[in-house]
Amino acid sequence: MSLDLRYPALSDLKAACKRRVPWFVWEYLDSATGTESVKPRNRAALDAVLFQPAVLRGAITPDLQTQFLGQDYAMPVGIAPIGMSGLIWPGAEAALAQMAQTTRLPYCLSTVATRLPEEIGPIAGDMGWFQLYPPKDPKIRADILTRARNAGFRTLVLTVDLPGPSRRERQLRAQLAIPPKLTPSMLWQIAQCPSWALGTLRHGQPRLRLMEAYLKLDGNAPSTAHPGYLLRAAPDWDYVQAVRALWDGPLVIKGVIEPQDALRLRDTGADAIWVSNHGGRQFDGAPAALHALPRIRAAIGPDMPLIFDGGVESGLDVLRALALGADFTMLGRGWHYALGALGPQGAQHLAQILRDDLASNMIQMGLTQPKKAHLQLWTHGPAPEI
Ligand SMILES: Cc1cc2nc3c(=O)[nH]c(=O)nc-3n(C[C@H](O)[C@H](O)[C@H](O)COP(=O)(O)O)c2cc1C
Repeated sequence: MSLDLRYPALSDLKAACKRRVPWFVWEYLDSATGTESVKPRNRAALDAVLFQPAVLRGAITPDLQTQFLGQDYAMPVGIAPIGMSGLIWPGAEAALAQMAQTTRLPYCLSTVATRLPEEIGPIAGDMGWFQLYPPKDPKIRADILTRARNAGFRTLVLTVDLPGPSRRERQLRAQLAIPPKLTPSMLWQIAQCPSWALGTLRHGQPRLRLMEAYLKLDGNAPSTAHPGYLLRAAPDWDYVQAVRALWDGPLVIKGVIEPQDALRLRDTGADAIWVSNHGGRQFDGAPAALHALPRIRAAIGPDMPLIFDGGVESGLDVLRALALGADFTMLGRGWHYALGALGPQGAQHLAQILRDDLASNMIQMGLTQPKKAHLQLWTHGPAPEI
């Protein structure tokens, strides 16, 4: 049976992932913080965006090709950075980088990946972006950036929405430590998931390899105190300026919700703003990321490149974000649900699902280019008050 018949949507891949990865891994991937109100808020905001269907426009041939930050991509969709990706599915970073390279989508490698930039950069090639959690020590910062550049990464993403640790209660309950330290309960969970267990044996225990060069990690820290915090400076405007001075390629600032911050970031030399509430993992009181988009677009004007993430599950969601001002969209958890379901084949399949769904909805809307989605906007729901 074809993959499309068995897993026609991301929700099918998500259900299969839940069955195939140990519970503590699922809790790491799927959770947010607090009451997890941000996840349904992100979803509801997307669902409220409706379009006018177009009829009598003849045959429509969607063109999904998208130019962004000087690079051509197959569609306006990419892979957001996910820490400890290789814990979620063995070999995840290499599998996603490979899929990104063959499919022509950007892959953003996290600072707290289980593989080194030197290993993943050559696989991702010109599709590789590197994400930086801000190290406190300027020497470590300079060293990481030099290593990323030498490994072939051209686009740098500085994540600024972690001013301190968040509680992530589900992760605490699942007893996940950094690096993962196995408890008897975890061993039992692993025993129920033979594909994950065998893959992990083959790829070796997931370790935060880049971090290990700078820190002593003994498995006694809870996962919420992850090395991003151990290394971090809670970044400020001087920090952004310092990173700007060190990086000569495109600089993206990730985790922005407030229009005034976006304006000041543009003036500080950012090349793109990544509108995100970190998928709800940091602050349960954050607004839906989608609600921030039109405000930021209105404040910053038409030319500043904007990336959006937070709850994107389909091609239609991509069009919703583009209609409200984004130029590009990213998925975080989605690619990992796909890997958990089917391994590397799952990521490839999700790319196909997104491409087909994007094209199919564009035809319904009479669009040849995704960036014209705003022309068919019907409503984006009640505007939240400030
Ligand atoms: C398990 C997990 C780990 C993450 N790790 C990182 C990270 O290392 N760096 C980062 O900038 N964002 C990280 N994020 C946030 C994602 O890049 C992205 O903003 C978020 O997942 C988007 O929401 P979505 O999962 O609904 O697509 C992480 C998110 C999850 C779910």
